[in-house]
Amino acid sequence: MQDQPSPFNNEIMKLVTSFAHLQVMSAIVETGISEQLKDGPASLQELSECCNLDAGVLPRVLRYASGINLITSNNDRYQLTKSGRLLIKDEPDSIYDIIVLMGSEPWQKAWNNLSHSLQTGESAFEDAVGMPFFEYTKKHTKHADIFDDWMTVESQMTADLIPEVYDFSDCESICDIGGSRGILLKSILQSNPDLQGILFDKAEVVENHELNDIKRQVDIRGGDFFESVPRADVLIMKHIIHDWKDEQAVQILQTCKESMDDDTRLLLIERVLDEDTGMSPLFFDLHMQVMNAGKERTADEFEALLQEAGLSLNQIIPTDSPVMVLEASL
Ligand SMILES: C[S@@+](CC[C@H](N)C(=O)[O-])C[C@H]1O[C@@H](n2cnc3c(N)ncnc32)[C@H](O)[C@@H]1O
Repeated sequence: MQDQPSPFNNEIMKLVTSFAHLQVMSAIVETGISEQLKDGPASLQELSECCNLDAGVLPRVLRYASGINLITSNNDRYQLTKSGRLLIKDEPDSIYDIIVLMGSEPWQKAWNNLSHSLQTGESAFEDAVGMPFFEYTKKHTKHADIFDDWMTVESQMTADLIPEVYDFSDCESICDIGGSRGILLKSILQSNPDLQGILFDKAEVVENHELNDIKRQVDIRGGDFFESVPRADVLIMKHIIHDWKDEQAVQILQTCKESMDDDTRLLLIERVLDEDTGMSPLFFDLHMQVMNAGKERTADEFEALLQEAGLSLNQIIPTDSPVMVLEASL
């Protein structure tokens, strides 16, 4: 679809109205349109009957969706494009869960409150929703499940890259701290069959672990990384430090330090900001701020945090993805 010359098609108006992209994607997912188109094209009548949709609004939403390259149509039959197929729940690299999450009321309320973060440095989520992010997920299992589903999908996208770039052959044990349902740990243990692993996260998260098929190699432990973490030759934390402001991040690193000796290695797996950072890490940087007053960091900022906790940064290993492995030790 070609945009016509118009005062409303200038770059700034495109930015202003781009919030509607997420709302259209949310509506396509929530009403079941994307699942309905999973196995092939459907007509307006079929879609409106199957998904119980208004026959007048449906073609207009689909027309907008084709404008952002999610849907194509041919002779009144509509189908998902390659990008549009990522809205299907079980598609490889699906973004279904993050669409549901980002479109949900608490997440929208938090982002609508970005000014609060800007004015105070605090979490916009906590101010708008009335409690800290991880307390909210503890109390609201529906949103906690969607969040953990997204963490699982996101981890599946990068998990196999970590054992490709980091050599675990000289260690016997590994603990994934804040490891969610264990997708990263599973990939590392499957690539290193002699390694023993511990999955450590909040009790209500690890109870839904996905490690049954490698039970022999793992120990599942619920706990709080502000209090203590298990001992192991390698401690891993993926996307943990970015959730927290500096003071709390240092506390978590200090808890790790208490479980480390001279040979222990600590691996932080995080996005590392640099001058060439694209928009995606910049989004996650603000998203961390909005949700939990966290942030994405530069290599120097990580090094300073580790130093404050009494740890040293040894090396930063890039992966074939936006995340890097930051290796630290005592
Ligand atoms: C952003 S998620 C990252 C999950 C996983 N490492 C990954 O990359 O997919 C943060 C994780 O930290 C866990 N977490 C938050 N607070 C915690 C605490 N106090 N103790 C232990 N785990 C906690 C959450 O349950 C969640 O699984």
